[in-house]
Amino acid sequence: MLKIGHRGAKGYEIENTVISFQKALDMHVDGIELDVHLSADNEIMVFHDDTLDRLTNGKGLISSLTLLELKRFLINAQETIPTLREILNLIDKKCYVNIELKSYEVTDPAVTLIEEYVKNKNWKYDDFLVSSFDWNALQQVRFLNDEIHIGVLTENNLDLALAFAKFVQAKSIHPHFLLLTKENTAQIQAKGLQVFPWTVNEIEDIETIKSYNVNGIITDFPDRI
Ligand code: G3P
Ligand code: MG
Repeated sequence: MLKIGHRGAKGYEIENTVISFQKALDMHVDGIELDVHLSADNEIMVFHDDTLDRLTNGKGLISSLTLLELKRFLINAQETIPTLREILNLIDKKCYVNIELKSYEVTDPAVTLIEEYVKNKNWKYDDFLVSSFDWNALQQVRFLNDEIHIGVLTENNLDLALAFAKFVQAKSIHPHFLLLTKENTAQIQAKGLQVFPWTVNEIEDIETIKSYNVNGIITDFPDRI
């Protein structure tokens, strides 16, 4: 069962930062999950929210600012918002990277970046997995590239996610963990799909989800898996 660090190791460090991803690596994760947005000048930024407000000393939409402008703001008064390139170079194939597309606009640049790392930097498609709640974005990923692994995120509709997963030839379903039972987990896997629930943090929930034999668990506390 794979352990995937949610936004790095969000339970221990500020989410989606270099420090958080390093912590996840120190905990020997099999994969990290991170969120991406596109800046105004087409840089792929690792950040969860649409706006700077909750996590930085800035305000406003990520998508309205350039890389240079975004780099002026600090997370927790110490770190800048990382680019996807910076995090990929930190990870350096030590684990796989689950890139969650937070907007449709970031899709094409993300696919291009993955292709660049596979063609020129010795990464493999197995080192990446692209997921999103925006299924149009996932359809676009498949339109652009036959080989990228796709994970279909769903918060509330497992049946629809399964149908869509077949349509885009996804590798995995990423449901909110409360949608799962032992039975439906087995049914999804019988269709040839892997199951990666999120975000499973409490020890009791981890034990329950483990007993369903899921393929991996996305968690803020990788050391609890
Ligand atoms: O990829 C799983 C999980 O990260 C989805 O929700 O809001 O944490 O990005 P969120
Ligand atoms: Mg996410």
